[in-house]
Amino acid sequence: MEELLLRAIDVQDVDGLQELIESDPGYTERITGYPPGESDAQSLLMMRPEGLAEDAKIVLGAFAGRDLVAVVDLLRGFPNEHTAFIGLLEVHWNHQSRGYGRTTYELVQRYVETTWPEIRTMRLAVVDTNAQVATGFWQRQGF
Ligand SMILES: CC(C)(COP(=O)(O)OP(=O)(O)OC[C@H]1O[C@@H](n2cnc3c(N)ncnc32)[C@H](O)[C@@H]1OP(=O)(O)O)[C@@H](O)C(=O)NCCC(=O)NCCS
Repeated sequence: MEELLLRAIDVQDVDGLQELIESDPGYTERITGYPPGESDAQSLLMMRPEGLAEDAKIVLGAFAGRDLVAVVDLLRGFPNEHTAFIGLLEVHWNHQSRGYGRTTYELVQRYVETTWPEIRTMRLAVVDTNAQVATGFWQRQGF
């Protein structure tokens, strides 16, 4: 496993993010009922719950060198002040089942602990139709 570095995804990374999303069409289909669309990366960067401030959302990338290995959609103070919400953690198809999901989540925990001091709880939701893929993974991470 290569070392991962976590940083905010920016406009320059949109193509890499779109490629990651398209690498695992099954995930998007299980969530939405449809294959990935061509602007899914843009949507992921923009979408946030109504009423949540723009700067309370961050999309982080876990990079091995220049390669985007995993993406995390993270909300600060949602649904309450002391909670951070993981909207998505997705590992590139070519890199799944090698420990990158676990490592990415460890980096996310460290990010939250060091930059968002008021956060006491990490929260997420698993969509029913994706439960077989996601539940075991999140239980292994302590959820
Ligand atoms: C879910 C996902 C993020 C896991 O990432 P990954 O890199 O494949 O997982 P890892 O190799 O880091 O696995 C970490 C641990 O979880 C366990 N695990 C992973 N998937 C599992 C499953 N379906 N059932 C039981 N355990 C599972 C692994 O065995 C491993 O255990 P270990 O640490 O004891 O060895 C990845 O499969 C993915 O991106 N899926 C598509 C998107 C998605 O469904 N995301 C989650 C919803 S937000």
